Amino acid sequence: MLSRPFTFVNVAASVDGKISNESRKQIKISSKEDFLRVDRLRAFADAIMVGIGTVISDNPSLTIKSEALRIERIRNGKTSNPLRIVVDSRLRIPANSNILDNEAETLLATTELADDKRKLELSKKARVEIFGSQKVDLKQLSRFLYDIGIERLMVEGGGALINSMLREKLIDELNIYYGNIVIGGESSPTIVDGSSFEPPIKLELLNFQRLGDGIFTRWKVLY
Ligand SMILES: NC(=O)c1ccc[n+]([C@@H]2O[C@H](COP(=O)([O-])OP(=O)(O)OC[C@H]3O[C@@H](n4cnc5c(N)ncnc54)[C@H](OP(=O)(O)O)[C@@H]3O)[C@@H](O)[C@H]2O)c1
Repeated sequence: MLSRPFTFVNVAASVDGKISNESRKQIKISSKEDFLRVDRLRAFADAIMVGIGTVISDNPSLTIKSEALRIERIRNGKTSNPLRIVVDSRLRIPANSNILDNEAETLLATTELADDKRKLELSKKARVEIFGSQKVDLKQLSRFLYDIGIERLMVEGGGALINSMLREKLIDELNIYYGNIVIGGESSPTIVDGSSFEPPIKLELLNFQRLGDGIFTRWKVLY
């Protein structure tokens, strides 16, 4: 039995596999239909996780936009929004980030590298926990999340975090929406950045569906 949450990635990519352009700023890839799908997926998650690179580039709030979905969660005995998690070894997170608003709870997963003063300052806005000494120890973090009752974990990027999660065999499924655009650029972030996997990780296609002008695909990771 797994002693970690069921963990799935959700990202939007261009047809050439990029999740942003060379400026690394958020660009519109999803269709209206895909935004609704993502909102529903968030509503069925216990927690949503991103890397600090994504927080700095996109400043996401990672909350559920549909009031009906938030009400349904409360009816099911859950909080109105899932727990938000940021993987941030040195607590680089800007204190005015949207993810630190009071719309939902936030966990900052950091390391022993984090400065005590920053820890104290950010503890007023979020729960701060240490996992490892240099980079956030993702296995330890997954175990911790499971122990606090997180059963479904959604990972919303970016490419560096997804690479590490796959390398640690912590991802069960990839949900990828391909929008009808080409972004290009060899330094544009992709769905999985960092170094390559040798041999490549195999996937099983679970589902595909036309959504707006793009295609939604769902893949099981076969380690
Ligand atoms: N289209 C989409 O769906 C989508 C979704 C999300 C993001 N994005 C795009 O992706 C880009 C950001 O992605 P990114 O790859 O630069 O950043 P990221 O994956 O969001 O965050 C990576 C950072 O997390 C920290 N980290 C701590 N422990 C780690 C570990 N064990 N493994 C990996 N990272 C760890 C590292 O910084 P420290 O060492 O400082 O802790 C690392 O640089 C942006 O351009 C954003 O727009 C697109």
